[in-house]
Amino acid sequence: MTTGDDSAQTPHIPVPLEFQRISADESLQRSRDFLETMRTRRSIRHFSPEPVQYEIIANAVATAGTAPSGANQQPWTFVVISDQSTKDQIRQAAENTERDFYERRISEEWRGALRPLGTDHQKPHLSDAPYLVVVFEHPFGLEFDEKGEEVKRKHYYAQESVGIAVGLFIASITNAGLCCLTHTPSPMIFLRDLLERPRNERPFVVIPVGYPADDATVPAHASEKKPLDEILIHVSSLNESEQ
Ligand SMILES: Cc1cc2nc3c(=O)[nH]c(=O)nc-3n(C[C@H](O)[C@H](O)[C@H](O)COP(=O)(O)O)c2cc1C
Repeated sequence: MTTGDDSAQTPHIPVPLEFQRISADESLQRSRDFLETMRTRRSIRHFSPEPVQYEIIANAVATAGTAPSGANQQPWTFVVISDQSTKDQIRQAAENTERDFYERRISEEWRGALRPLGTDHQKPHLSDAPYLVVVFEHPFGLEFDEKGEEVKRKHYYAQESVGIAVGLFIASITNAGLCCLTHTPSPMIFLRDLLERPRNERPFVVIPVGYPADDATVPAHASEKKPLDEILIHVSSLNESEQ
């Protein structure tokens, strides 16, 4: 197996940027509105089986697909599952691996970090939510050369790129008035075989999407977000009044 890189053959062709400028006031208003929307986001673990229009999920994946990525390699695949028996199989397999995790592999430190969330090996959200979106990262690309031989293509910053794409996906789902969970069964490599993905794809996260169950609860601890002055450091030569 060799390392190929087709993009090395692609020339740089600059084209004019398409950009629609909006007023400063509108910019500010949009940023405030978006912040308010995103402040309503909560990870939920109790889903209603109520159906959700497929286009909302497809639009969220398309939004994720607009994400920046290292060398524009777009190292991701989003597998959207609404088939009940596939969701049931994923739940069964995830509960098996997570039972082992919670009973044997978890460290005391990790158990302590998870305690306020109240999570355990039971994962009803994996079969209750109308959609499961399994995101795969491509740590490397696989292509075939002119001789039909498999060529491995190096990917740059794949993990960071997929993380950004997933963030956009979650923002789109939240903006559409739906809920989701970022779920990382440990280990989750079983998803590659179960969903018949190629060997250059690594399961990254499972995202159930839907409406909350009527009796859904969330852990109080998780709504406590760090205040802005703890996460934002502004290096500026201007006074605050001039900004
Ligand atoms: C990378 C990542 C992995 C996560 N894995 C799990 C998981 O396996 N199971 C789970 O119940 N929640 C998981 N979460 C959700 C977090 O527990 C949750 O985001 C956090 O408690 C904050 O709550 P909030 O999302 O409601 O703000 C994960 C979140 C992230 C970002």
